[in-house]
Amino acid sequence: MSSQKIPVRRSRFPVSLLVIFFLVLLLMSGIHFGLIVLVNERNWSELVQTIIPMIYWFLVALGLTLFTGWRVRRSYEIPMQNLAKATSKVAHGDFSVYFPTTNTSDKLDYLDVMIIDFNKMVEELGSIETLKTDFFSNVSHEIKTPLAVIQNNAELLQRNHLSEEQKKECTETILHATKRLSNLITNMLKLNKLEKQAIQPTPHCFDICAQLCECALQFENIWEKKNIEFEADLEDKVMVEADEELLAIVWTNLLSNAMKFTPDGGTVTLTQISDEESVTVSVSDTGCGMDADTVKHIFDKFYQGDTSHSTEGNGLGLALVQRILQLCDGIITVKSEVGKGTVFTVKLPAYLKNEEDLL
Ligand SMILES: Nc1ncnc2c1ncn2[C@@H]1O[C@H](COP(=O)(O)OP(=O)(O)OP(=O)(O)O)[C@@H](O)[C@H]1O
Ligand SMILES: [Mg+2]
Repeated sequence: MSSQKIPVRRSRFPVSLLVIFFLVLLLMSGIHFGLIVLVNERNWSELVQTIIPMIYWFLVALGLTLFTGWRVRRSYEIPMQNLAKATSKVAHGDFSVYFPTTNTSDKLDYLDVMIIDFNKMVEELGSIETLKTDFFSNVSHEIKTPLAVIQNNAELLQRNHLSEEQKKECTETILHATKRLSNLITNMLKLNKLEKQAIQPTPHCFDICAQLCECALQFENIWEKKNIEFEADLEDKVMVEADEELLAIVWTNLLSNAMKFTPDGGTVTLTQISDEESVTVSVSDTGCGMDADTVKHIFDKFYQGDTSHSTEGNGLGLALVQRILQLCDGIITVKSEVGKGTVFTVKLPAYLKNEEDLL
């Protein structure tokens, strides 16, 4: 970036080279003149008188050629050869390559700019490679775990000595593992499509309060089973212009996290308020909470801070939520305290009412 602000020299040969050549040639022609005078004084034969200046100028030409060759080598060949070596290392998968510029940052020329861009490119490639490797190891891990569960339980079922109760337990475990696998694939595909912008939000006007109620009701079984007190504090009707289907994924993920990370007897609260500019939805819980270090990573793909719940889910929920909100011009913030609970707050732009809607 700095290379854009600092003026970049367009030539690798400094103007001083012209002065050097001029002075050298001036000196050489002076010596040539002296040589002619010397040869004349000695009265040497005409052949010698011709050969001596020729040899002299041949040596001058040789000297200048060697000097120019040295300059070209220093300015072009050595940096280009080093760059070729560095490029070859990158081509063979070594992304730790760093190639220093030949000039200091205040005297950059176009070759230095190329080197800076090359370093940037290698750094970028390296981080993409790390992401790719991490992604594959995460996906493999997430697939391997439920597959091992399915395999073990299927093997158990093959043995005939199991009671009906045990068989039921085995099939339930298998079903749970397949559901987890299916969720993983669905979320991965969804996230991939959202990241590639293959899914473009299709905004339309709808009542966000009704949507929140509908999403919350999906968790009725869970809050009853876990004896969680669920509180909702919503306005009657607030219209927003957004992609309804994508926003439903946001609320479902936030509520599912709140239910999952809140122990039996805890409280989960869903709040919604609005003003002229925005609609704010909060999901708060009295669950395990998170420390600052965990909070930093919760939007990373496959990150699961609380290992005691890692068998439930794959750590893709909040990555999806964040991507959807980016696409819907929304903002998500989180406040959490270990042992006390967590509050996720989502802010969406308000729908600008026109006269028809007010009727
Ligand atoms: N309400 C919450 N309370 C405490 N920790 C939370 C809460 N919400 C998220 N987290 C932490 O953030 C991590 C990432 O959440 P995310 O929703 O992305 O994944 P997940 O719920 O583990 O799996 P998935 O959403 O794929 O089912 C969780 O594993 C948990 O550690
Ligand atoms: Mg989740």
